[in-house]
Amino acid sequence: MADGTTAKRITAPAIFAMKGTSKIKMVTAYDAPTARIADRAGADIILVGDSVANVVLGYDDTLAVTIDDMVHHTAAVARTRPRALVVGDMPWLSYHSSTKDTVANAGKLIREGRASAVKLEGGRKRIPMIAAVLDAEIPVMGHLGLTPQSVNSMGGYKVQGKEAQAAYEMISDAHALADAGVFSIVLEGVPDVVAEIVTREVPVPTIGIGAGVHCDGQVLVFHDATGLGAGEYLPKFVRQYANLADDAVAALEAFFADVESGAFPSEAETYHMPRESEEILRNLSNPSDHLMADEAMEG
Ligand code: KIV
Repeated sequence: MADGTTAKRITAPAIFAMKGTSKIKMVTAYDAPTARIADRAGADIILVGDSVANVVLGYDDTLAVTIDDMVHHTAAVARTRPRALVVGDMPWLSYHSSTKDTVANAGKLIREGRASAVKLEGGRKRIPMIAAVLDAEIPVMGHLGLTPQSVNSMGGYKVQGKEAQAAYEMISDAHALADAGVFSIVLEGVPDVVAEIVTREVPVPTIGIGAGVHCDGQVLVFHDATGLGAGEYLPKFVRQYANLADDAVAALEAFFADVESGAFPSEAETYHMPRESEEILRNLSNPSDHLMADEAMEG
């Protein structure tokens, strides 16, 4: 449902209440067209992910984007007034130094980006920041497991929680996030059994990406799911439901062929003047008249 003005908009408490009732459908979007498509398709949550960095802006990782980049993209999504809940992702270093800066940055995503909630990565060590944001009445989505902003400290994009102790720590992190009051938790790149235990034990909904089938919902990156990320490497957990990049290339090839052959534009794609005006114009723009006018000016 695209028309956010008539349909009831989804809120963070409504997502929280979906635990155990219906599966949560989340997808990323980074601009107005992708947001409209996501909403028409029935997304419950549109995540303006910091994956905008690699997916749209051509960076190698997510570390390059700033809070202002995220506000810019979040605002473009929010301007479409989707029915889906708009969640703005907090980029690296926007919630790592102080609770004061964290609240200011989360506030920017809400006030300027018009998001209705924010997401941030990390477990127990982020609890003071999460508590401060929640205290400012901003709903928070947690994110555990393969957290891409930790790519350097993790030593690459690796499935997390494969050892029992690491998995146990992650489950403890999930409990801490739930106790702090997050309304949902993304579980990324974790073994399915870890996601199953977290989903069973914590009272907030889990939303998986590369986390198996037991989560309360699933999320994919828009460009991965639709095949718009032309030629990009796709992780094992992605299912590509269309090949929009190939469709777009075919469309543009057809356009360019029509340009070459002269088949574009056709009558239907051309503007005309009223016939009398055209006749006057044609008489006026007799090339010899122009020549005489030019000579008169020069002389
Ligand atoms: O930025 C992003 O796209 C994300 C999802 C993968 C959950 O954080």
